[in-house]
Amino acid sequence: MTTTYLITGASEGIGLETARLAVASGAAVLMVARDPERLLAAANTLSGPIRPQIEAVDLSDAGALDAFLAERDRLGYMPDVLVNNAGHGASGAFVDAEWSKLDALLRLNVQALARLSHWAAHGMKQRGSGKIVNLSAAVATRPTPFFAAYAASKAFVTNLSIALDSELRGFGVSVSAIHPPAVRTGFAGADKANLGGTLLLTLFPSVGPATVARAVMRTVRQPRRSVNVGPIAAVVMGTAPIMPRGLDLAFMTLLFKRRRAAA
Ligand SMILES: NC(=O)c1ccc[n+]([C@@H]2O[C@H](COP(=O)([O-])OP(=O)(O)OC[C@H]3O[C@@H](n4cnc5c(N)ncnc54)[C@H](OP(=O)(O)O)[C@@H]3O)[C@@H](O)[C@H]2O)c1
Repeated sequence: MTTTYLITGASEGIGLETARLAVASGAAVLMVARDPERLLAAANTLSGPIRPQIEAVDLSDAGALDAFLAERDRLGYMPDVLVNNAGHGASGAFVDAEWSKLDALLRLNVQALARLSHWAAHGMKQRGSGKIVNLSAAVATRPTPFFAAYAASKAFVTNLSIALDSELRGFGVSVSAIHPPAVRTGFAGADKANLGGTLLLTLFPSVGPATVARAVMRTVRQPRRSVNVGPIAAVVMGTAPIMPRGLDLAFMTLLFKRRRAAA
């Protein structure tokens, strides 16, 4: 039987590499992102027995997301695997950020992920099988000054995933939160999370998107509630509960407060 995947944010970065592995494994993949041309170009780089499908949707637009899900319901479509990967970042002081940027981040990282998880959990529970893999981040368990809304959004992703996995035990459905460290994608760029000029990127080695994609695929094969990608994510996640809060906040400020304006 062919496995079906719905992967959000699949036109570049982690989502594209995950789609690449899923397509190569013989799965039928539906790739979602906003820009239809980039999505088509990305899909054309993938090779496997089944041509991936693409759908351009702005997931941060609740109406567009509702329409997308209504159409899937009309078609009787419920994937075997949902990878909630699309996400935005926003570095800098929360108070100085444009509200529209924070609002878009929260609508995508929190609202859309919750809506998609709710839709899939419902359909998968009825069917008695399915896997939901949610891209969180290694900062998920740490309040992070100068990356505050992003880290808080990922705390939501991790806590929702773990709680939902527990609720769905016994119904054949797993929910996993993936915690990558910094990843070499366009995510940190000036037009996106804008992490240039932070000590985070200077001090800590990043991993490639294919490394995270392999962790996603391993999780699909062997579901776990919480997955840390590599040793840095394991240390960041593992030390969070034992770090004195004041020290932790000072450390996270050091890592995330920009030393200079991003180039
Ligand atoms: N990169 C890192 O350092 C890092 C570290 C830890 C966790 N993560 C998490 O991993 C996930 C993927 O990150 P990445 O680095 O691969 O990101 P990325 O390279 O910036 O790619 C983001 C993808 O999401 C799509 N997207 C953005 N906004 C969207 C929207 N409103 N609706 C639908 N699709 C949208 C983008 O395509 P369009 O622009 O065409 O929509 C693109 O395909 C995110 O959840 C991120 O928080 C990343």
